[in-house]
Amino acid sequence: MLLTTAIDYTNGSPHIGHAYEKVLADVIARYQRLRGRPVYFLTGVDQHGQKVEQTAAKEGVSPEEYVEKVTTRFTALWEKIGVHYDGWAATTDQRHKSCVQAILTDLKEKGQLYKKAYNGFYSVRQEQFLTDRDRDAEGNFGPEWGEVVEIQEENWYFKLSEHTAWLQAFLEKNDVILPQFRKAELMNALTRNGGIDLCISRPKERLRWGIEFPFDPDYVTYVWFDALINYISFAGYGDSDLTLPNFSETWNDVVHIIGKDIMVPAHGIYWYCMLHAMGFSDAQMPTLLVHGWWNIRGEKMSKTLGNVVDPDQLADTFGVDALRYYLTRDITTGKDSDFDVERLVMLFNTELANELGNLCNRALNMSQRFTDGVLNCHEPLEAEDLVLQQSLVDSLALYRDAMDQYDVAKGLEALNRHVVNCNIYAERMKPWEMNKNLEKKSRVATVLYHLAESVAHCAVMLSPVLPDAAAKLAAQLNLPDLLSRRLDDLSWGLLKNGHVIEQPQPVFPRIVPAAPKDA
Ligand code: ME8
Ligand code: MG
Repeated sequence: MLLTTAIDYTNGSPHIGHAYEKVLADVIARYQRLRGRPVYFLTGVDQHGQKVEQTAAKEGVSPEEYVEKVTTRFTALWEKIGVHYDGWAATTDQRHKSCVQAILTDLKEKGQLYKKAYNGFYSVRQEQFLTDRDRDAEGNFGPEWGEVVEIQEENWYFKLSEHTAWLQAFLEKNDVILPQFRKAELMNALTRNGGIDLCISRPKERLRWGIEFPFDPDYVTYVWFDALINYISFAGYGDSDLTLPNFSETWNDVVHIIGKDIMVPAHGIYWYCMLHAMGFSDAQMPTLLVHGWWNIRGEKMSKTLGNVVDPDQLADTFGVDALRYYLTRDITTGKDSDFDVERLVMLFNTELANELGNLCNRALNMSQRFTDGVLNCHEPLEAEDLVLQQSLVDSLALYRDAMDQYDVAKGLEALNRHVVNCNIYAERMKPWEMNKNLEKKSRVATVLYHLAESVAHCAVMLSPVLPDAAAKLAAQLNLPDLLSRRLDDLSWGLLKNGHVIEQPQPVFPRIVPAAPKDA
C-alpha cells in the first residue's frame, strides 16, 4: 500500500492540523504493518508558489533560503513526535522538478495542453483565477479571496473539461472517497465546475518561484499542478533512479490522506483528471481519506486570530505520548473537533495514567511481589476468567474493525473497554487480599496471569498510536518479539507458564497541570 499525506506549505511553522494529519498517517501505516501489509509512507513539503515567495520577500531572504529554514522545522517536528516516513517529498528536489517537466511535455504531446489569452480577476491569496461563480450573492468577491486584481495574460491550460464526464462516471461506480458522506460534496462541485479547463502556468513576471515550463521558459508551473505530482514523482514515476521506489510496485492500493479543504477542487477533481490524462487506468486511481479540522472554540485556527496551536510546544509541555494520544483519540476521522488542552490532559490522565497505568501496575508489580515475577495460569479456570478472556476477544474484534476503517478513536475506545474490564476483574478478584491466604496462592497466580496476558495484547493494540510506550511494556513483560507479530496471530496464551517478567517501571506518569499563574 502507498500511503501519503498532503505536503505542507512551507510558508510558516507547522501547526496542530499538520501534526494531526502526519500522526494519523503514521498510526495508519503502523497499523497496516501490524496487519501484515507492506506500506510505503510518503510525506513532505510543498515549497513553491506565491505565498512562499511573498513570505520570503517579507523576511528579506531568498525563497531557497526561506524554504530550507522552514522545512527543517517540519522534519524536526516529525522526528520529535515519532512520525516515521519512508519517503520525503520536497518539491524543490531536482527529481521532482524533472518529473513535473516530463509530465508537462508528455501532456502537451498528447494534445492535453494549450495556450490562450485571458482577461479577468485573480485572487492573490488563493493563487487562482476567479469566475462569476466565485462571486457572492451581492456580486462581490468575498473576503475569503483576499486581494482580488484584474489581469490580462496568456497562460497554459490543461484540458480538464475533457475528463470530467469520465470522472463523474468513475466516482459513481467506485467508492474512492472516504468517509462516504464527502462524496456528495465532490459530485456537486463536479457538476458546477465541469466545463472549465485548468490554468496551469504563471508568467515569470508575476511569479518566479516555481518549476519552469520545459517548452516555454517564460512560465512556471501553477503550484497545485506541481504539488499534486509529488505523489507519483517520489513513488518513482517515470524514473530509473534507483534511490526511488519501483513505481509499479509502489503505486497500488494508494490512499491519500488529506484535509477537507483540499478535496474540492484540487484532489477530487484536478488530480483524478491529471492522472486520467496521463493514462492511469480506473484501477490505478487513488482513494482519498478526507479528514476534518481541528478548530479552536468552534472557530477556524488562523494567524490573524492568533489562536494557532503549536504542536512542538505541546510535546514539550505534555510529552509526545499525550499529544499523539489526544490527536487520535479525540477526533473521529472525517469529522471536525475542538482542540482543548484540558481534554488532552484529562484523556491522558484518565485512560492512560489511571486505567491502563493501573492495569500495568497490578499485572506487573503484583506479579513481582506475589509470585516472584513468574507467571502461571492454573486450571480450573473460574467463570470470571472466561468472561475476561471473552472481553479481550470482543475488544480485539472491535479494534480491528474500527482501525480497518481508519477510525482510530473507535479503535482506542475498544482497547479501553478491555482495560476497564481488567480493572473491574482485579477489583472483584482482589489478588492483594487473596495473597494473604496461603491456600489461594495458585488462584492469585491465575488472576495475575490474566492481567499480564491482557497487558501484552493491549500493548500490541496501543503500538500504532504509542509505539514507544508499547515497546516499554513489551520489554517489561520480557516479550521482545511481541510487537513484530501480526494482529491476526494474536491469541490467548502469549505468555507461557513459567514465563518470567522484568522489573516494572511506570510508563504513563500522570500529568500534573501547572498551577495557574497569578494574575
Ligand atoms: O493545503 N486541522 O498545505 P497546508 C486539520 N500544500 N488539518 C488541517 C488544519 C486543521 N486546522 N489546517 C490544515 C496545503 N490542515 C497544500 C497541500 S497536497 C498535494 C498540497 C491540513 O499546509 C490540510 O487540510 O495548507 C492539508 O491536508 C494539510 O494540513 C496541509 O495544509
Ligand atoms: Mg491550507
